[in-house]
Amino acid sequence: TWTPENIIDEQVARIREQVGDKEVICALSGGVDSSVAAALVHKAVGDQLTCVFVDHGLLRAGEAEQVEKDYVAATGIRLKVVDARERFLAALAGVTDPEQKRKIIGREFIRVFEAAAREIVSHGDVEFLVQGTLYPDVVESGGGTGTANIKSHHNVGGLPEDLRFALVEPLRTLFKDEVRALGLQLGLPEAMVWRHPFPGPGLAIRIVGAVDEERLAVLRKADLIARQELSAAGLDRDVWQFPVVLLADVRSVGVQGDGRSYGHPVVLRPVSSEDAMTADWSRLPYDVIARISTRITNEVAEVNRVVLDVTSKPPGTIEWE
Ligand code: XMP
Repeated sequence: TWTPENIIDEQVARIREQVGDKEVICALSGGVDSSVAAALVHKAVGDQLTCVFVDHGLLRAGEAEQVEKDYVAATGIRLKVVDARERFLAALAGVTDPEQKRKIIGREFIRVFEAAAREIVSHGDVEFLVQGTLYPDVVESGGGTGTANIKSHHNVGGLPEDLRFALVEPLRTLFKDEVRALGLQLGLPEAMVWRHPFPGPGLAIRIVGAVDEERLAVLRKADLIARQELSAAGLDRDVWQFPVVLLADVRSVGVQGDGRSYGHPVVLRPVSSEDAMTADWSRLPYDVIARISTRITNEVAEVNRVVLDVTSKPPGTIEWE
C-alpha cells in the first residue's frame, strides 16, 4: 500500500544502493521538489550530501531565509549558500525582453553553480547530482515552458564535461501531492511543502520592464501582502499560483494623501489549474481582493493602482512574461 513511510523506506534503500559511499551534490531552489528530493537523499546518505543554494536575489520576501534557516534546521543538511545577488542584478541591468531575461538568468545560474560544484568536488569524490524530477516532468520532458525550464536551470546538460554527474532522481515516479506528503513526513516546514509553484527566473519575469533593486523591493512588498491576505483567508490551497506583477514602465495618475500621485500599477494574477498547461483566473472573494488592494496602495508608496487579471490560459499565460 502507498504510504509516505513506505515510499521513503523504499527510496532510501534505492539511493543507498545507487550512491554507495560516494559524495552527492544538489542545487536547492527553495521549491518543493528539490527540497524534498534533497531531504530524502540526506536521510539515505547523510553528510555524503552537500546542497548548494544560489541566492540570485529574485526570490520573494522570506524565501531565501526559509532555505538557509528553516530548511537547514529541519533537516540538518549541509548547505553552501552562494550570495550571487549582485552578479545577477548586474547581468540583468537594462534588460527588458522576457526571453533575454531567462537566458541570462539560466546562464548565470550555471556559472555560479559550476563554480560552487568545483569547490565541493575538489575535496571529495562527487559523482552524483540530485534532481527533483517528478513523474509529470518525465512524461512531458522537453515540452512546455514550465517545469522543463525549471529543470534546465539545474540541468547537468549545462555543465562542462569534467563536471558531469550521474543523476539521483528519487521523485521520478511521484506526483506533486505525493511529494508534498513525503515532505511533511520528512519533517519539512509546512510553508515550504505547500509553496505555490514559482518560476526559476523568479521575480525578474514578474517585473514588466528592466529589473533593479528598487523595483524588486516594491514587488516584494506587494507580493508579500497578497500572500499574507490569501493565507489569512484560508485560501492558499484553493489557488494554484498567485503571481503579483509590477508594471514598472507604466504610470497612472492617482490621489494619495493630499496630493496627486503618479505611481505604478500592480497586477494580481491568481489562477486555478491542474498542471499549469491550462488555467483559469481564480474567483477569489471580492473582500479578499479588496483587502489586498487597500493594503498594497496604503503600504507600498510606489504603487497607486491594483488591477485584477481576468484572463484564462489560453489565451493568456500564467506569468506576464
Ligand atoms: P506560463 O506563464 O507559461 O507558466 O503559463 C506555466 C508555468 O510555468 C512557470 N514558468 C516558469 N518556470 N522557468 C520556470 O522554472 C520559467 O522560465 C518559467 N516561465 C513560466 C509558471 O510560473 C507556471 O507555473
